[in-house]
Amino acid sequence: MWVGVVSIFPDMFRMLTSEGVVARAIASGALDLVIENPREHTEDRHSTVDDRPYGGGPGMVMKVEPLRRAIDALKQRAGGPTRTVYLTPQGTRLEQRNVEALAREERLVFIAGRYEGIDERVIEDVDEQISIGDFVLTGGELPVMVVIDAVARYLPGTLGNAQSAQDESYRTGLLDWAHYTRPEHVMGRSVPTVLLGGDHEAIRRYRLRDALGRTYERRPDLLSGRVLSNEERKLLADYLEQPGAC
Ligand SMILES: C[S@@+](CC[C@H](N)C(=O)[O-])C[C@H]1O[C@@H](n2cnc3c(N)ncnc32)[C@H](O)[C@@H]1O
Repeated sequence: MWVGVVSIFPDMFRMLTSEGVVARAIASGALDLVIENPREHTEDRHSTVDDRPYGGGPGMVMKVEPLRRAIDALKQRAGGPTRTVYLTPQGTRLEQRNVEALAREERLVFIAGRYEGIDERVIEDVDEQISIGDFVLTGGELPVMVVIDAVARYLPGTLGNAQSAQDESYRTGLLDWAHYTRPEHVMGRSVPTVLLGGDHEAIRRYRLRDALGRTYERRPDLLSGRVLSNEERKLLADYLEQPGAC
């Protein structure tokens, strides 16, 4: 996948490129990440990318020309059609299904805003606007990194075990089940016995029961549109009777 980012703070992206899953995706060639700084597309000696808002009011607004030129430069380098995404608190709230849709694209261009945001005439030309939640950050770099991180997990060869991305919270419409690793007993707490026995069917049922139970307790909204199978109904009823048991 080819990903271009428009940002006036390219160094912030070192967080993604220096270590972790995204760095591995880049090293393996599964992800090509290019950052374009609108300051390099200015014509004045101060490399101005922002100006005061028409109509007055606080803060500054990112100007059309440097952004437009940075986007065009990325589109030229992409080597094919791109989908352009502006990260904004006014966008569609990011969910796993948007992440999966983005992961199916071959080339993406993300725009990170700053200040009061970017001139509306740039926004008019983007394909999609995404928010990472109902709160306002100082800039779009962290939201862009959040999206790239979530998308990179779907790229072939990126995760140690591709099944991880399939079983995750939200992917199945349920929250993920509880995870345990060695040692079996630690600080007075033990691993549920069923996970030690190697009975794959019992483990599947236990995990489904746990996923249903914690989704019911923490995110009942996720269950409201879901038709539960007979097995799921029984497992959830059992969990609600005795949540800790297995
Ligand atoms: C201070 S914010 C501008 C907020 C804008 N005035 C508003 O109220 O919609 C600056 C930039 O941060 C980014 N940003 C802030 N919060 C975000 C969020 N929740 N999701 C995605 N991007 C966000 C956007 O790129 C935005 O242009």
